[in-house]
Amino acid sequence: MQCLYRLIRRGGRGGRRRRGKQLSQKNKNRAVRKHVIELEREQKGAGRRRAGEEEKNSHREKKKEEECSCTGSMSLNGKVALVTGGAQGIGRAVVQSLLQSSAKVAMVDLNKDLGEECKAQLDAEFGEGNCTFIECDVANGDALRDTFQNTVDQFGHLDIVINNAGITNEKDWEKTIQVNLTSVIKGTYLALEHMSKENGKQGGTIINVSSMAAFMHSPHQPVYTATKHGVIGFTRAMADAAIQGDYGVRIHALCPAFVDTPLLQSVEDEDNMGKFVKFKDDFKRSMSKFGVLQPSLIAEGMMRLITDTSLHGAVMKITCSKGIHFHTYEPMSA
Ligand SMILES: NC(=O)c1ccc[n+]([C@@H]2O[C@H](COP(=O)([O-])OP(=O)(O)OC[C@H]3O[C@@H](n4cnc5c(N)ncnc54)[C@H](O)[C@@H]3O)[C@@H](O)[C@H]2O)c1
Repeated sequence: MQCLYRLIRRGGRGGRRRRGKQLSQKNKNRAVRKHVIELEREQKGAGRRRAGEEEKNSHREKKKEEECSCTGSMSLNGKVALVTGGAQGIGRAVVQSLLQSSAKVAMVDLNKDLGEECKAQLDAEFGEGNCTFIECDVANGDALRDTFQNTVDQFGHLDIVINNAGITNEKDWEKTIQVNLTSVIKGTYLALEHMSKENGKQGGTIINVSSMAAFMHSPHQPVYTATKHGVIGFTRAMADAAIQGDYGVRIHALCPAFVDTPLLQSVEDEDNMGKFVKFKDDFKRSMSKFGVLQPSLIAEGMMRLITDTSLHGAVMKITCSKGIHFHTYEPMSA
């Protein structure tokens, strides 16, 4: 525009004014036309560049969707899994499914009594030596590191990590962030130390448990909702890092809707929910509207994420209305 302004100001003067004026008017018109053509060219070029970028992004997303729709299956015989929060609820159902598929499992949990009781039942069902219980608070970074090492020492290697332990506590919301998000991040990094090809290991699968709360926010659980959003963001970014860095590790997020576990009961308790407990009826209305799933269906989704080797960076959703399905994202655009 500055160049256009200068050209317009450069008009003729004096005796030759009229002819000069006519000539300079012609020049001005020519210059304006030339400038407009240049601007149009520039805009078309930028449009073409933008369209090219969008096409590339949509191609990348399409490739991910295609990868999600085909199945390459993997046997779990001889594989070693670590499941946090494994003594109860969803974690317990997943431990059971892994043992049924002949994997060895380290069941990690804060609750010692429950963990030992659960291990005794699983030993009776699947035979001793297939499952170990490790008492650990995942919010304790050193204890979590030792738990990973302990698993590898007992079973020789590690192939599958399920970062499942989670709480809903709006009163002690910092603890909720620590358990639901920070520990998932630490669990992912520790899993990569033991499984990534970058560290000379054999590869594997990591599943981070999020929630449908990451898609349907609730006034009853603001911080829980934030942590579950965080789990998806972190997991998707790490999944891309794993693909681009050739880690040989597939990283997924799993988002169940309401599941029939003790966690669902804790949301009615003022000790857990603090001032947000007054919205519990709203939460209960959502539960009766959307229904409540059984942990066995979540374990089924988990097994699909583990065994389908064509899946990378999947965000699996499990709901009563649609069952097991995948979230798809719009192609990225600036
Ligand atoms: N139940 C649901 O409706 C639902 C829905 C969506 C997502 N989820 C998520 O699924 C995961 C499992 O939930 P659930 O419903 O099975 O819960 P749950 O309370 O039934 O079981 C959680 C297990 O984790 C253990 N745990 C809790 N804090 C721990 C810690 N700091 N260290 C180690 N272990 C710990 C508990 O002792 C328990 O055994 C959580 O991440 C939860 O947010 C649950």
